[in-house]
Amino acid sequence: MAMRNSVALATLLVSMFVAFPAICQPVKAIPAASLDLAARLQEEESHPGQREAAYKAGGKVAAFCANCHGEGGNSNNAAIPNLAGQNPTYLLEQLRQFSDGSRRNEFMERMIKALSPAEKIGIVVFYSSQEVTHKPSANAALVGQGLAYYNNVCARCHGAQGRGNAKVARVAGQQPDYLNVTLKRYRDGSGVRNEPLMAANTRLMTDADIAAVVAYVSSMK
Ligand code: HEC
Ligand code: HEC
Repeated sequence: MAMRNSVALATLLVSMFVAFPAICQPVKAIPAASLDLAARLQEEESHPGQREAAYKAGGKVAAFCANCHGEGGNSNNAAIPNLAGQNPTYLLEQLRQFSDGSRRNEFMERMIKALSPAEKIGIVVFYSSQEVTHKPSANAALVGQGLAYYNNVCARCHGAQGRGNAKVARVAGQQPDYLNVTLKRYRDGSGVRNEPLMAANTRLMTDADIAAVVAYVSSMK
């Protein structure tokens, strides 16, 4: 299974470098500090004309991202996150983390380093405007346990509806296998993602707690 996935990924990588030389060519890294992308995002989002242009530019790049993240950022693969409906500042922050290697994923790191600042803004505007497809869970009992845990521990930051806010990720409707792996990475201090708030709030979770919370969160609208 893992083997088949890695072969598929390798094939995709190769076809990507052939089909999208413009996106994939290594570009000289621009020091992140010299570009205040968050300020630029805010500026473009507040001007309807600029916003529309950014949305269009983002939509073009997203046609490629759709290979993994699905049409409009609704992933069809439980291990690959939805980008649809994600909070713009959180998305931008993840792009920054992939570019400077503080969030580890070899493929995404290379991919994001190759995007121009305008493409990054475009992607953020495009994906944050898409609707998340709702997927109800089949296991009502597990969802009930997860709801109780979520409301006790997670809701104060991610919100009762799971929508998060500028700095905190939307989790509602996120893909279950991705949530499961992500929560364990924070909990186990794997170094793949480092976030002190999430490390502190997952530290006491058992695998069973995680399974219940994942069942609930992935079924939230
Ligand atoms: C070959 C498959 C693949 C392609 C193509 C791809 N991604 Fe990803 N992406 C992933 C995987 C897998 C993850 C999860 C990484 C992890 O945390 O382990 C991810 C994670 C992300 C995240 C973090 C989401 C979150 O909830 O924190 C963002 C943002 C993202 N990708 C943006 C993009 C953009 C933008 C593109 C297109 C320019 C793109 N990806 C293309 C596989 C892909
Ligand atoms: C004190 C605030 C806080 C609490 C409590 C909290 N989180 Fe988070 N969470 C965050 C922040 C901030 C981030 C963004 C971290 C980053 O950039 O890696 C985050 C990120 C996440 C992510 C990654 C989202 C993605 O798309 O990759 C998941 C999943 C998540 N939290 C789930 C939970 C769950 C489940 C709980 C309860 C057990 C919880 N969080 C409790 C603040 C919090």
